[in-house]
Amino acid sequence: MISAVEVELPDAAATVVYGATLSRALGNSGVVYLSGTLGAGKTALVRALLRARGVTGTVRSPTYTLLECYETAAGRVLHLDLYRLADPEELAFIGAEEIGASDVLSLIEWPQRGAGFLPAPDLELHLAVCAATSGRRLTVTAHTGRGQAVVAALAPDDTR
Ligand SMILES: Nc1ncnc2c1ncn2[C@@H]1O[C@H](COP(=O)(O)OP(=O)(O)OP(=O)(O)O)[C@@H](O)[C@H]1O
Ligand SMILES: [Mg+2]
Repeated sequence: MISAVEVELPDAAATVVYGATLSRALGNSGVVYLSGTLGAGKTALVRALLRARGVTGTVRSPTYTLLECYETAAGRVLHLDLYRLADPEELAFIGAEEIGASDVLSLIEWPQRGAGFLPAPDLELHLAVCAATSGRRLTVTAHTGRGQAVVAALAPDDTR
């Protein structure tokens, strides 16, 4: 069973398209860590996923609020950005206890800031800036059986 898949996203429009693909593959629950440098496109990918789930209002980066919650047709989605989390214990005060619940999909930027206080991820989405093209390379890595099922759904047929 393959446990990682790599995708080239040459421009922001490609990120929008892949957000919809990810939305379909992810289903309604799970814990997803997003990694990559400042400006790599983590929030852009989450925004694309939420748009694909019918969220039409503003999708803000949770830079200062740390957590944004969306009620979608496919269930509740939590979007966190822990870059400004001063102390992982703060997670207890922002509604983060729902992360990992069976009916919640959690998408977490800068999860390392919450180390020790977050559930382990099913999946990691890593975005790297491609210096030559200024596009992005997305690597999707499974860390659990649930994550493997997502990766299998994303992988081209001939690599399965
Ligand atoms: N595939 C792509 N190719 C080129 N540019 C992209 C691509 N996807 C997104 N972008 C652009 O990259 C920028 C990403 O910003 P974004 O806020 O999503 O980054 P981030 O990883 O969430 O950063 P932070 O760590 O500060 O939260 C946006 O300007 C977006 O338009
Ligand atoms: Mg962001």
